[in-house]
Amino acid sequence: MAVTRTFSIIKPDATRRNLTGAVTKMLEEAGLRVVASKRIQMTKDQAEGFYAVHKERPFFGELVDFMISGPVVVQVLEGEDAVKRNRDVMGATNPADADEGTIRKTYAESIEANSVHGSDSDENAKIEIDYFFDENEIVG
Ligand code: RTP
Ligand code: MG
Repeated sequence: MAVTRTFSIIKPDATRRNLTGAVTKMLEEAGLRVVASKRIQMTKDQAEGFYAVHKERPFFGELVDFMISGPVVVQVLEGEDAVKRNRDVMGATNPADADEGTIRKTYAESIEANSVHGSDSDENAKIEIDYFFDENEIVG
């Protein structure tokens, strides 16, 4: 299995509860390495651009408002089959459906305030990494 990269966001519900370290520990224990990380306050434009694929969905406005409601930590994660590995440790979008031992089962507050984002394909991982990071900010 090849070593690949994925993009992660620790969402405002998690930073608000001081869970940056706890979430990162679960990512690391799942075999992922943080090769870039920064804490930012997203602007509305930035959040709308990031979630553009969801702009026709009924929850788009609320999702953008939530994502700019506090700081987030954007990260590049590296590991074997990183996209799947990360999605596995994140758990289902709705914490009520997430498996035991996943980040969302452990920490998420709701389907929206679900603590983490993770890219859903290698192609989107590259797009999302490029949206937030310059290559020289990523150090393996
Ligand atoms: P993510 O993109 O954040 O990693 O999560 P995901 O793939 O599991 O979920 P996705 O379908 O891409 O939805 C993106 C984010 O929108 C919020 N959401 N709210 N109110 C709702 O019904 C609803 N559905 C989704 C969640 O924050 C979800 O992570
Ligand atoms: Mg998604």
